[in-house]
Amino acid sequence: MKRLEARRILVTGASAGIGEATARALAAEGARVVLAARRKERLAQLASELAGAIAIALDVRDAAACERELAPLDLDGAILNAGLGRGLGSIADGRVDEWNEMLDTNVKGVLHVLHAVLPKLIGRGRGDVVLLGSVAGRQVYPGGNVYCASKFAVRALYEALRVDLAGKNVRVTTVDPGMVLTDFSITRFHGDHERAAKVYQGMTPLAPSDVADAIVFALTRPPHVNVGEIVLWPTDQASTTQVTRRT
Ligand SMILES: NC(=O)c1ccc[n+]([C@@H]2O[C@H](COP(=O)([O-])OP(=O)(O)OC[C@H]3O[C@@H](n4cnc5c(N)ncnc54)[C@H](OP(=O)(O)O)[C@@H]3O)[C@@H](O)[C@H]2O)c1
Repeated sequence: MKRLEARRILVTGASAGIGEATARALAAEGARVVLAARRKERLAQLASELAGAIAIALDVRDAAACERELAPLDLDGAILNAGLGRGLGSIADGRVDEWNEMLDTNVKGVLHVLHAVLPKLIGRGRGDVVLLGSVAGRQVYPGGNVYCASKFAVRALYEALRVDLAGKNVRVTTVDPGMVLTDFSITRFHGDHERAAKVYQGMTPLAPSDVADAIVFALTRPPHVNVGEIVLWPTDQASTTQVTRRT
């Protein structure tokens, strides 16, 4: 018997990076994953590889679409992973469009998905909610301002959910990684691969599968155990401002 046999688990942002790795890891444990993101071709490909998976094209910034697509699902859990960073610089030099994109995706997107899925999880009296926070939600770093603010907000939502869900038998977890090698920096720098590669130069970042492992750990504890906060650093990263580089 696999440890997540037949559990129906939503993964937002499943088309790449941590979300894709998490979907694969959950499916390997027997879960029937619901893959959500905007790039539907990628989702369709992934769904074809994972037994029992379904794909839903979804922009988490669209509250009505979240409600329409997600509220009808009978879920055992939801991994709220969709998110992004845009730009790295001072607030004075910042771009309002980038701030809106981060806040709309990382904060309001999480709320839209929660609003759609929580009523049924609560109604069934069991389930799991996992938020993808970040060490950026614990320590600000130069130029990180609005992205950090969005992840501090995710941390506040984690705390709020603990209160909201008390007595409902729905577990809530925040998984807060340091640097993970994904497309995150490529997106942050609008496709500048050279600049993105420099972020990880000379150090060993976490792999998306390392984060997926932590999520599987939380979901496979016995029902009376709620893993609350998992902070996962690369060994080469002491803080958001201190990275050991060997070259
Ligand atoms: N990489 C890191 O160092 C790191 C560290 C700590 C925390 N995190 C967090 O981990 C999460 C995943 O990031 P990642 O590193 O795996 O980056 P990634 O490889 O760029 O993946 C981001 C995922 O989010 C989805 N997404 C973005 N905007 C969306 C929207 N509006 N609606 C639906 N899906 C959306 C993307 O799918 P589509 O583009 O197909 O929609 C993609 O699947 C994010 O919340 C990020 O903040 C990352």
